[in-house]
Amino acid sequence: STQKVLVFAGSAREASLNKQLAKLGAKRIEALGGEATFIDLKDYPCPLFDEDIETQGMPENVVKLREILAEHQGVLIASPEYNGFITPLLKNTLDWLSRPYQETPGLGLFAGKWAALVGASPGGLGGIRALPLGQQLLANLGLIVLPQPLSLPKAGSAFNDSGALNDAATGQKLDALCQRLVDVMANNHP
Ligand code: FNR
Repeated sequence: STQKVLVFAGSAREASLNKQLAKLGAKRIEALGGEATFIDLKDYPCPLFDEDIETQGMPENVVKLREILAEHQGVLIASPEYNGFITPLLKNTLDWLSRPYQETPGLGLFAGKWAALVGASPGGLGGIRALPLGQQLLANLGLIVLPQPLSLPKAGSAFNDSGALNDAATGQKLDALCQRLVDVMANNHP
């Protein structure tokens, strides 16, 4: 069976560093023998979550995102750090996708899917405060989260013109994480 990774960033910004990192991750997954779909959340704007909106019917883009997610067995998410947290865009997207609420945790759309998390920041710390929080959120949704998320500090100067990373060691770390995701999804075990 085909094992596909859905790849997206928690930033809508045109020049988003996290979109660059997510796109590179998708390329590397493909190069390592996996299948990856990159989507830009800017193409699927969803309202700020409100149960009244939900009661009136799922917004069209939430339905679209649910259908896309259902076709994938894993996710690679690149999240910026905002004030030490993941972004409201990422939280809002995951909240919408976690609906309708399942009484039994782990029975939702995310259940049993694999997740890898990365983060890019122009700052020196690379958004490391947000990554454990993102991992915790993904685990709460029933995803199986790979350890050792990759953070990319000084991301403003980290990419070359072809979108690869200038620093070979960091490139290898990204490859290792992508390879692990491809492997666990293919073998369905940690
Ligand atoms: C930031 N930024 C930031 N960076 C960081 O390393 N740690 C942080 O806590 C924060 N906090 C923060 C809050 C808010 C509200 C904004 C708008 C920004 C800077 C952030 O990393 C930078 O804008 C990135 O470029 C955002 O990611 P994208 O859009 O490039 O993917």
